[in-house]
Amino acid sequence: MDTHAPAYDINPENVTEKVIASFSMETPRGRKLLTSLVTHLHGFARENQLTHDEWAMAVGFLFRCGEISSAKRDEFMLLSDVLGLSSFVDMTDAPVGATEGSVLGPFYASDSPEVAVGADLRPTHHGAGLLVRGVVQDAEGQPIQGAAIDMWQTGENGLYATQDDHVPDSAFRCKMACNEDGRFTFVTVLPGPYMVPDDGPVGELLRAGGRTAWRPAHFHFLIMAPGFRSITTEIFFEGDRYLGTDAVFGVRKSLIVAPHREGDRDIIDLVFRLAAAG
Ligand SMILES: [Fe+2]
Repeated sequence: MDTHAPAYDINPENVTEKVIASFSMETPRGRKLLTSLVTHLHGFARENQLTHDEWAMAVGFLFRCGEISSAKRDEFMLLSDVLGLSSFVDMTDAPVGATEGSVLGPFYASDSPEVAVGADLRPTHHGAGLLVRGVVQDAEGQPIQGAAIDMWQTGENGLYATQDDHVPDSAFRCKMACNEDGRFTFVTVLPGPYMVPDDGPVGELLRAGGRTAWRPAHFHFLIMAPGFRSITTEIFFEGDRYLGTDAVFGVRKSLIVAPHREGDRDIIDLVFRLAAAG
């Protein structure tokens, strides 16, 4: 087909190729991704004989996703999550030998306080709390020097500090440089399960599809170290009733842990493995 024919010579048979030909991407990867995107997008419309009303509904849906998004809420990330796209990329772009990844989610805030190993992340330090002990290792199980974590979780009520007016924004999250032996510890509480925000367009989609908005309780972790590929992952808890129906498909068997008791304290031991970069 002549893709260089005048732009007014467009029909349903040649429009896909004309659109693809109209882009001149600098990199082969960019060209491949854009070509594939246009092909699949047009293919979707072609296969389903998309009507004007349906097309307008889809564009309006995306518009409303943008409208409700803010610095504290990313509806597009949530859309990616509930459609399983985030999990798909987490699984297929995974470094070999590393801890399995899981969704970043819409609540990541990059300004968590930098605290020392052993910090108590609770806003009020009543009782022994839950002690989390972890180590960051390489793919062979050797501790990594210079590793760091970025952790965020909800309180027991299922609210992130940024959503909860009763606790300071800095609660239940931290950035922490690990010890020389790759170890870190912090004191916190077991997080609570929560519903992903369902008052926006993604919530409408979940309801229309008969889906639940609930997520099992979890910690979020970013784990990084110089010379290693960073990972974004989550930790879940044995017995959680939402493990099998996570609204964002983030649960992996290898990421489920069970706290154990030592003296007056509940303890969780974690091992994270990173793969070398490059
Ligand atoms: Fe979360």
